[in-house]
Order: sequence, then structure tokens, then C-alpha cells
Amino acid sequence: MIEARGLVKRYGSTIAVDNLSFDVMPGTVTGFLGPNGAGKSTTMRMMLGLDRPDAGHYWLDGREVGTLSDEELTAVRRDLIGFVDGTENPVDQAALNATIIGEEDATFAGGSYVIVQKYLHNLNGWNALPIEEQERIIGRTKLSNIELDDAVKPTSAHNALTTIIEDGEQLEIVRDNMPFGDVGKGEFGTYFIGYARSPRRIEQMLENMFVGRPPGNYDRLLDFSRAVTGTLFFVPSTTFLDNVAPESVSPAIGMQTPQEPEEADKPPSRSSPSDGSLGIGSLKKEAGYE
Ligand code: HEM
Repeated sequence: MIEARGLVKRYGSTIAVDNLSFDVMPGTVTGFLGPNGAGKSTTMRMMLGLDRPDAGHYWLDGREVGTLSDEELTAVRRDLIGFVDGTENPVDQAALNATIIGEEDATFAGGSYVIVQKYLHNLNGWNALPIEEQERIIGRTKLSNIELDDAVKPTSAHNALTTIIEDGEQLEIVRDNMPFGDVGKGEFGTYFIGYARSPRRIEQMLENMFVGRPPGNYDRLLDFSRAVTGTLFFVPSTTFLDNVAPESVSPAIGMQTPQEPEEADKPPSRSSPSDGSLGIGSLKKEAGYE
């Protein structure tokens, strides 16, 4: 149950939420309506612990959330499969080391690679599993959020397959999962986003999850959650963008090539793959497109 009393949130001189009180009962679908600027997003941010109220209080299942420390707030943010997500994310300098391209790829230094994927969960199937089974799949305990001991953690656990050690160094990424749901469609899942200084470590994690390490020893989370979209982006630094001369931009990546009149009139062709793949192409560098 969520209980909010007298919530106020200000951004400078703007009052985004002004003395808001409400209750949300468990097991009910609750509408949350208001015109643009009414403070809906700000309220949701406070409920998720992403913003703190300037005044007022709110309780999540009896715990007052506004007074929790950052660590305690992380534990409040659970994803739809019920686990705390993000505990092992690198922070501060370690996060920069994991995500920002350095001298190993000097031309692109300061940039980063970002992968986004939309996953749809089979929540009924997941929730039907005993908690101990869910914990073996993720590799952490569900309620207390403690990593399973190596002696009991399966090699197929999600956090085992996404741990890559090379030359004694762990190749990390910074990632986040944004849960979403559409009650009308019965569609629930997560938008995964991951940042890394090299696409190779992201790809390696995906390969370990989907193909398995060794092949066949795959991530059982994928029996309950399937990726329906996915794209890998390169994010250039502002210095990189400032240094790109317009004439050096390849037509293949930067501009429309002039088309013959008949061609230009045709609607753009959108071929969908017939092989059941995600249709996002390989995340690997392809010959001629490095
Ligand atoms: C359905 C999608 C996914 C869900 C629900 C999910 C959930 C989780 C959870 C609950 C944890 C354990 C808590 C933590 O350490 O933060 C975790 C850890 C992790 N996940 Fe995911 N994840 C998903 C997809 C992915 C993908 C696609 C990747 C990589 C490409 C990934 C990489 C990682 C990494 C690196 C860790 C930390 C491993 C460690 O060092 O212990 N996850 N994930």
C-alpha cells in the first residue's frame, strides 16, 4: 500500500507538486490523471525514490520512503520480477572506467557504446517458480539481496554469465532496467539499457546469456523473458562531434543520398526479417563497416 500525505516538490521557484495526499491500495488498478504540468511525473519520480519531496511524507507498505538512505532506496526499487536491480553496477570512477572509451580507441575516445533492448516477461510463469528457483536463476537472494555463494550459485545464474573476467580484470558495464506494463494488453517487461567502453563486452554478455557459457548453459531468465527489440548505438563525445567537418561525413551514415525522382516518390521500403530474428543485424562489426 502507498500512503502519501502533504507531498510538496519544488524546482527553484516552480511548485511541481503542491500538498498532495492519496492512498493506493494493493491489488487494485489505480488511475492517475491530470493535465500537462499537473505534477504526475514528479509524483511518480518521488514514489520510485528518484526524487525526494521537499515537504510531506509517504509510506510504502508502512515504511517511510522519504527518510531512506540512497542504499536503502536502491533496495526499494525492485523490478517486475521482484529482485533489486543495479546492486553490482560500478559507481564513480569505476563507472567511468567501464563506460568511456579511452586510448585503446583514440579516435573515439570520450564516447561510449549503448545497447537498448525491450524484454517482455512471462510473469505468470515466473511467479509460479519457487523463490529459491528464482534466486538460482538470478544468482542473488530475492528479499535480502545477497549474492549467492559460489558453492551454491549455478554457472548459468544471470549474474554469473554476465560476469566476464579477462586477464584478472572484470569487464564491467553500467546498466539499468526500466520496468513497464500495459494492463490492457497484459504486456509487462523491462527496457534494458547498458553502457560500455567496448561493444565486445556487451556482446560477450549477450552471448553468454543467449547461447550459454559453455554453449547450452544459457541464462534461464530468458525462459521467462524474451528480447523483442534491440539496438546498439555509438555515442560520440561532444569533442568528437565538434571536430567532424561536414564534408567528411559519409553519405552512408550522415545524409540522404540524392535519389532519382521515381525513387524519391516511392515509400521507404521496410523489410521485416522472415527468419524470426530481431531484425537488428549483428552487433558485431561487419566487413566494411568498422
Ligand atoms: C530481462 C532483462 C534483465 C533483467 C530483468 C535483469 C536483471 C538483473 C538483476 C536482478 C541483477 C542482479 C542485481 C544486480 O547485480 O544488479 C542483474 C545483474 C546483472 N545484469 Fe542483468 N538483467 C537483464 C538483462 C541483462 C542484460 C541484457 C545484460 C547484459 C548485456 C545484463 C547484465 C547484467 C550484469 C553485468 C549484472 C551484474 C553481474 C554482477 O557483477 O554480479 N543484464 N541483472
